[in-house]
Amino acid sequence: MNAIVDVQNLTKVYGDTTALDTVTMSVEQGALFGLLGPNGSGKTTMIKLLTGQVRPSGGAATVLGLDVTADPVGVRSLVGIIPEQETPPSFLTAEEYLRLVGAIRKIPDTEEQMAWWFEYLEFGDKRDVLCKDLSRGTRQKLMFAQAFLHCPVLALIDEPLINFDPIMQETVKEYLAGYVKKGNTIFISTHILEIAEEICSDFAILQRGKLLSTGRVAEVTGAGRHLNEYFLSLIRKGGHV
Ligand SMILES: Nc1ncnc2c1ncn2[C@@H]1O[C@H](COP(=O)(O)OP(=O)(O)O)[C@@H](O)[C@H]1O
Ligand SMILES: [Mg+2]
Repeated sequence: MNAIVDVQNLTKVYGDTTALDTVTMSVEQGALFGLLGPNGSGKTTMIKLLTGQVRPSGGAATVLGLDVTADPVGVRSLVGIIPEQETPPSFLTAEEYLRLVGAIRKIPDTEEQMAWWFEYLEFGDKRDVLCKDLSRGTRQKLMFAQAFLHCPVLALIDEPLINFDPIMQETVKEYLAGYVKKGNTIFISTHILEIAEEICSDFAILQRGKLLSTGRVAEVTGAGRHLNEYFLSLIRKGGHV
């Protein structure tokens, strides 16, 4: 089967910092893939590279068969993206923002999709509120809606649950699980191992830009270990306590 995401020796250097160091990995269709690692390990950099927001210093990556360096616009037109700590435009209302996304993405049923999201994430009462006046949690709901409005076959989400309360976290986890069951693929980054263990099918662990391990979550838990135990044993071996 063709990989939905294929990364070969991908490297990103910022000045003195090697944010990603010759990483090779792939993600298959239907995976709920978790990119794991401590703060500063390169997770956000990987998502930026895979969505053409920054250019690699070395190596290559394809997303849905498109080279991210040669065709970043093509990649972004196909995938859904929620960047880390992103906020929607301050000067638009929630509804105006989703309509704008619908127009840019040429979505035929924006109104229906939008209505579904307002109801599903319970923020229809905020549809006419300017984004600058929305709470952090509501902004994140809006970012979810914009990412999935065109029903992308692949969504990349940087730290998906961080701004949600526990009830909304459950709703979003259910949504992601259902979304991959339909044959779509989700790529998330998280440093919260309990979430990864609960929802991810596959994982990769980064430390200081290097890939320490990849595998299936069920292989770790099937061996009687929690993902965080496995993760800590690897990280400690790498000398980062
Ligand atoms: N624009 C940038 N300029 C300089 N250094 C950066 C930049 N972006 C990230 N870094 C550095 O690259 C490393 C990886 O960062 P990041 O990808 O944000 O990690 P994570 O998402 O895992 O916390 C960190 O050391 C960070 O300080
Ligand atoms: Mg990050």
